[in-house]
Amino acid sequence: MSDAPRVEVVAAAITDARGRVLLARRTEGRDLAGLWEFPGGKREPGESSEQALVRELLEELGIEVEVGPPLIAVAQQYPHKRLRLDVRRVMRWHGIPRGHEGQALAWVPPDKLPGYAMPPADRPVVAALLQPDRCL
Ligand code: C5P
Repeated sequence: MSDAPRVEVVAAAITDARGRVLLARRTEGRDLAGLWEFPGGKREPGESSEQALVRELLEELGIEVEVGPPLIAVAQQYPHKRLRLDVRRVMRWHGIPRGHEGQALAWVPPDKLPGYAMPPADRPVVAALLQPDRCL
């Protein structure tokens, strides 16, 4: 199991002026289809987390983001891979987020986040956002 490939993913907790957080729904035909996730994707060799997040959010949502501080890093063991999910805050961006890959998007008030079905790696992100010492 420890030989399972390691996948490095960077994702964003994108928060708007009203404190709502952006979720994207994984499309049919991918693993974890139908689940809601914090948008992002795989870091490519030679990329920093910031560079990967800027690239992924431009590709997937059509927005140009300013990457904010780290929120949480999650290690998740799946049957065939080990995932590290590095989550950064994003509070400033240019453009209007749209699902460029056909994915549904939702702006969700933080207290409603637990009601969305998510991949296991994304759940600790919700917990981090709901910690009382975090100001959204
Ligand atoms: O989006 P993509 O399929 O490239 O992501 C790679 C893997 O990372 C997915 O198979 C999924 O297991 C995981 N992932 C996740 N939560 C996210 C983004 C990706 O668990 N927010």
